[in-house]
Amino acid sequence: MQEKQSTPVSRFVRACLRRPVDRTPVWFLRQAGRYMPEYMAVRRHHTLLEICRRPELAAEVTITAAEKLGVDAAIIFADLLLPFTPMGLDFEFQAGEGPVIHHPIRTADDVDRLRTDRAEELSYVAEAIEKVCTHFRVRGGADSADTLGIIGFCGAPFTLASYMIEGGGSRNYIETKTLMYRQLAVWQRLLDKLVTVLSAFARQQVEAGADVIQIFDSWSGALSIEDYREFVLPVTKSLVREVQSYGVPIIYFGVDTASLLPSMRETGADVLGLDWRTPLDHAWRNLDYACAVQGNLDPITLFAEPELLRKRVHHILHQAAGRPGHIFNLGHGIVPGTPVENVQAVVKFVREYNSREHVP
Ligand code: CP3
Repeated sequence: MQEKQSTPVSRFVRACLRRPVDRTPVWFLRQAGRYMPEYMAVRRHHTLLEICRRPELAAEVTITAAEKLGVDAAIIFADLLLPFTPMGLDFEFQAGEGPVIHHPIRTADDVDRLRTDRAEELSYVAEAIEKVCTHFRVRGGADSADTLGIIGFCGAPFTLASYMIEGGGSRNYIETKTLMYRQLAVWQRLLDKLVTVLSAFARQQVEAGADVIQIFDSWSGALSIEDYREFVLPVTKSLVREVQSYGVPIIYFGVDTASLLPSMRETGADVLGLDWRTPLDHAWRNLDYACAVQGNLDPITLFAEPELLRKRVHHILHQAAGRPGHIFNLGHGIVPGTPVENVQAVVKFVREYNSREHVP
């Protein structure tokens, strides 16, 4: 991999590359979201898509969340489905229902109609990243361990294809798997088109200053190992390799992936996201420590009393055993209703554990 910075200094990027750090970096999936009053204040005046598409708003909510929590990385505020618009697929977010795609992809013709030549229409995400970088780099300088990591992101081919085919979220992925099993050429063409658009999108984000790209394969846990390896791994590997060639580490994340992790590792991603159903020490050992790991507190633990929360946070850090290459995070996103002070407490618990460890 050609690295953007030959000696990364921020503890977040160093941890992604399994280099030693002064303390474990911490950030949260969905750290800017509906649990946070400052986000809801912006959200009252703007739709989710407006916030995503207006760089000054996206940058504001990204920065506010990172500063309020005191985390080591800021993930750009955007959404997985944004690339659907330049591909010619309309969608909307319906209150309480999540995303709805009005004309799902089901046939070879549907796939043929998808466009791959308009990724530059997503440049508003890169613009938001530039604003976030300017804010943090001007304030904090770019040469200390405390420099915030800026995370760009995109969906993985399988997870995005599943939204396109199902028309929204799904429980059993019947339409997706039927197309995958019965129309293999169509499936492959769809995934190839997604890779073309996603790699162009990720490239814009890296050029704008993203230090790391996280690839969300949130729903890959719906696949058996055989199906993952046959229908998903090769194309995901090509996306990971392509984005790594832009000079940044890749975090590859999925949910319910305990049995898939060794196969997910074959994508060549630098970091794998772990959900909370997999004990971190088992998972990492199973991966032969061949990549970094991110995780893996159950996000619902954030509803517990601080003492239990502290115990769970410290247990995860104990499992990581100070080995270089652990990024503290949740196993999935923060949910609405989560007490903000408990999220802030996790940051404190991570720091206190580390300073205790370092006392001679
Ligand atoms: O702080 C951050 O994490 C950055 C923001 C972010 C959003 N979406 C904003 C958002 C990120 C990283 C995403 C990624 C995303 N989008 C994923 C992968 C992450 C995961 O959870 O595994 C997925 C599956 C999507 C698609 C999507 N967007 C769904 C299924 C929903 C509805 C979920 C719900 O809880 O209702 C969204 C909406 C969405 N995207 C919200 C936010 C803050 C909440 C809705 C709102 O503000 O109106």
